[in-house]
Amino acid sequence: MKKITIAIDGHSSCGKSTMAKDLAKMVGYVYVDTGAMYRAVTLAAMRGGMFGDDGSLDTERLKAAVNDIDISFRRDETTGKVETYLNGENVEREIRTIDVSQHVSQVAALPFVRERLVAAQQAMGREKGVVMDGRDIGTVVFPDAELKIFVTATAEIRARRRFKELEAKGMPADYDTILENVQQRDYADSHREVSPLRKADDAILLDNSELTIDEQREWLLEKFKERTE
Ligand code: DC
Repeated sequence: MKKITIAIDGHSSCGKSTMAKDLAKMVGYVYVDTGAMYRAVTLAAMRGGMFGDDGSLDTERLKAAVNDIDISFRRDETTGKVETYLNGENVEREIRTIDVSQHVSQVAALPFVRERLVAAQQAMGREKGVVMDGRDIGTVVFPDAELKIFVTATAEIRARRRFKELEAKGMPADYDTILENVQQRDYADSHREVSPLRKADDAILLDNSELTIDEQREWLLEKFKERTE
């Protein structure tokens, strides 16, 4: 069976990574979470004191430091889960905090950050057989991907899902804060100048507000089969 490239883009917290991970596992493809890469750069900037008290980012300092930020993914042999590493340190948990979520849009809007991460993503997917999730995979990273999905759901449903996810991880957060963050990121992701979030013309739209995980899985497998058989 021929190997293809699968691009899964869409709004934040709509279950993109869950579905992408799940599909990759079922079909034996590599999964790449590009949001984790933007989050890791954000964490590096936060730790480096590049955000001022007023929330502003010292972009010149980040530009000077960006080439020294090494991001990689490694599989945890016990859980089988792929985790994110920043300069050799496992930051999987830390990059998911609301604090990082509140700073990431500013970092993701910077052209020099995007250029570097897009190049790394293209290198990871060169051999095909990859499921990549993000915001610009079908439009910028792999415009020739054979299967492109654009996922969305209502902001309230997405906030509730993220709330439950954080709760399950023992990281309780306030629902209204999460909803506000989801709405702010929707706006920032769609209105930034560089690679704004938009559906590629040839992407299939999936609104999963009313779908169960199983229904979504079946739908996705069907699309995969259509492209590979
Ligand atoms: O998927 P996520 O919520 O973990 O992504 C975190 C942020 O990174 C999100 O607010 C937008 C940005 N992002 C991006 O600009 N381009 C990508 N390919 C992936 C994420």
